[in-house]
Amino acid sequence: MKISGIGPTKICFLLSVLVCFVFFLLLPWRQHGLPKLHPLLSCDPSCASSFLEMSRQVTRNYHAAPNQNSSFQAGRRRQAEPHQNAKPMDESHEKGDLRVDDLFIAVKTTKKFHKTRINLLLQTWISQAKEETFIFTDYEDQELRKKAGRQMVNTNCSAVHTRQALSCKMAVEYDKFVQSSKKWFCHMDDDTYLNLRVLLDLLSAFQHNTDVYVGRPSLDHPVETLDKLKGDGSSSLKFWFATGGAGFCISQGLALKMTPWASMGNFISTAEKVRLPDDCTIGYIIEGLLKVKMEHSNLFHSHLENLQKLPQNSLLQQVTLSYGGPENRRNVVRIASSFSLEQDPSRFKSIHCLLYPETSWCPQKKRLFS
Ligand SMILES: *[C@@H]1O[C@H](CO)[C@@H](O)[C@H](O)[C@H]1NC(C)=O
Ligand SMILES: *[C@@H]1O[C@H](CO)[C@@H](O)[C@H](O)[C@H]1NC(C)=O
Repeated sequence: MKISGIGPTKICFLLSVLVCFVFFLLLPWRQHGLPKLHPLLSCDPSCASSFLEMSRQVTRNYHAAPNQNSSFQAGRRRQAEPHQNAKPMDESHEKGDLRVDDLFIAVKTTKKFHKTRINLLLQTWISQAKEETFIFTDYEDQELRKKAGRQMVNTNCSAVHTRQALSCKMAVEYDKFVQSSKKWFCHMDDDTYLNLRVLLDLLSAFQHNTDVYVGRPSLDHPVETLDKLKGDGSSSLKFWFATGGAGFCISQGLALKMTPWASMGNFISTAEKVRLPDDCTIGYIIEGLLKVKMEHSNLFHSHLENLQKLPQNSLLQQVTLSYGGPENRRNVVRIASSFSLEQDPSRFKSIHCLLYPETSWCPQKKRLFS
């Protein structure tokens, strides 16, 4: 009969075809299911999938709307013009002649470091860029307010050291920079010595109205994640980011392009959606979304590297220096100085006195050479 015509062999065959078909359907998801994120970013699987979803949404909006791009460019011009009118381009200065007052320097700190770290910076390099340096903190400290005046910015962000609190501060830094109309945004942590002269030399090699993002990559390879939007879904979204602890700078031109993802609190929601730390989110916006390449510089230094290894004769040619925290007090630059390690544990005073020997509290030159 007909029913007996479909024998057990045929049923087995149909079943195995079905199993193969289902397996075939699952295969691409097995290969591309989770994006590869560097373990240092300490991303868990739920974070990874929200990151992927964010890349999809943002990349779709960005690439699928060429009109948005042109209006976005026009918006940039509109924003740039009033500033140029208000403050005519300084024609008298030759190209490459950058001044301290072209900079907007943001120092990120927190309540518990006002008396220690911030005081040291105010005594040293900030004293050379008082008007250009803004201290972004989380507490209305009357003592610091007296010293720093309007240069202290109470972000009203939480004082806890979480991703959210840190990106909250970065968001305020970004908005303040855009308001300032300065040529360069430079972000520093509160354990960073900034050599202003070397920074100006470095930045004057670039144009502030072009796209520039310069700093030290914190990993030796770019962060990589799958970008399922393009082509067959196998292309990956790779981006470098400058480690915040070493300091980094962004040109005005590039900062204005970041507006859709960074301005008016958008930075916080971008960082939340991708679940990445503040400095990494900056790299994601610039390299991942805007497709602007970061300029890698080895002149920026954070406490994550071995600072003792920096050659002594090159210390004054670095843009930034740092020092080890309580867990690694001995990670400081090696420098011959009349300050002992007890007097100057971070070595910042020693560096500062070599750069600015006229400073009142620096040892007399006579004493240095006697
Ligand atoms: C935006 O559009 C212009 C042309 O109108 C193009 O040259 C430029 O590369 C586009 N920018 C981005 C980031 O896609
Ligand atoms: C923080 O709060 C104070 C008091 O409400 C306010 O004056 C200040 O503008 C706020 N800071 C920022 C960055 O919004």
